[in-house]
Amino acid sequence: CSAMATKPVVLHLQSLPLEPRAAEDLHSKFENLFIWEQADPAAFLAEKGASIRGVVTGVRPWVNQELLDKLPNVEIVSSNTVGLDKVDVSLCKERGVSVTNTPDVLTDCTADTALALLLACMRQIPAAHQYVCDGRWPKEGDYPVTNKVSGKRVGVVGLGRIGAAIGKRLEGFGCPISYYSRSKKPQYPEYNYYNSVVELARNSDILVVACALEKATTKIINREVLDALGPTGFVVNIARGPVIDEAELVKALVEKRVAGAGLDVFVNEPEVPKELLSMANVVVQPHVGSATYETRNAMANLVVENLVAHFSGKPLLTPV
Ligand code: DGY
Repeated sequence: CSAMATKPVVLHLQSLPLEPRAAEDLHSKFENLFIWEQADPAAFLAEKGASIRGVVTGVRPWVNQELLDKLPNVEIVSSNTVGLDKVDVSLCKERGVSVTNTPDVLTDCTADTALALLLACMRQIPAAHQYVCDGRWPKEGDYPVTNKVSGKRVGVVGLGRIGAAIGKRLEGFGCPISYYSRSKKPQYPEYNYYNSVVELARNSDILVVACALEKATTKIINREVLDALGPTGFVVNIARGPVIDEAELVKALVEKRVAGAGLDVFVNEPEVPKELLSMANVVVQPHVGSATYETRNAMANLVVENLVAHFSGKPLLTPV
């Protein structure tokens, strides 16, 4: 009983898929509180907030001033994401709260997702699947031909770990790769660099968005960029919804000013603009870029290992 009382209290804002070892660590080393089990989360936080020393978060809940004010003794926020747009990292730092995320382990699957979306929207794979499910088979002229992917000029917006992994994969398709990145210019001499997204779009057939969501990247894909890409261009987004001006993208798709899109992320998830749901050239997913057993397990393990490291005074594995 007294051992129980000394376990650090961890607040979970989003659930983790736990492998046995991570589950054993989590349950034996921490007292876990789950926000989704609380009928009245505000009252629950008012009562328990001061006891909470760790937070597990994910892609949807906000770790902002409103929450942090209720957790005066929190020491660490362990995010089950690589993107930290839902964590006020600078406020955490100001308050001496450590932040960790899950880089690297999700790079491959997220890059794979970009390729899958790219092929799916350009080759209209969901529509072809539905066509067969409807009991149909192509006769002369009644099946839409689609767009070739191999050899197309690809522009990657944001050449971090995931953007670079997407570039590598598309090299295998014989696609010349160009990119825009605010920080990674010198590392990729084999790719063309553009210092404006509009110029990148003007020189691309496919725009793949892989940058982090920050103030500077919000709506980085705007009407001007979409018009520079033009009516034969495709957009793929595996980053975050708000990096695209979503209303402008919808308009451009409806007005056929761009050819199609493959989208894993949206501005107001789980809301998806309804216009996107009935276009054969648009493929949507529910923010599942990293959602494979292997990757989600590796991410969850990291989340738990970071907590364990912090509370046993060891260096964090993936500090931000
Ligand atoms: C991330 O890690 O940022 C992903 O979007 C969540 O799967």
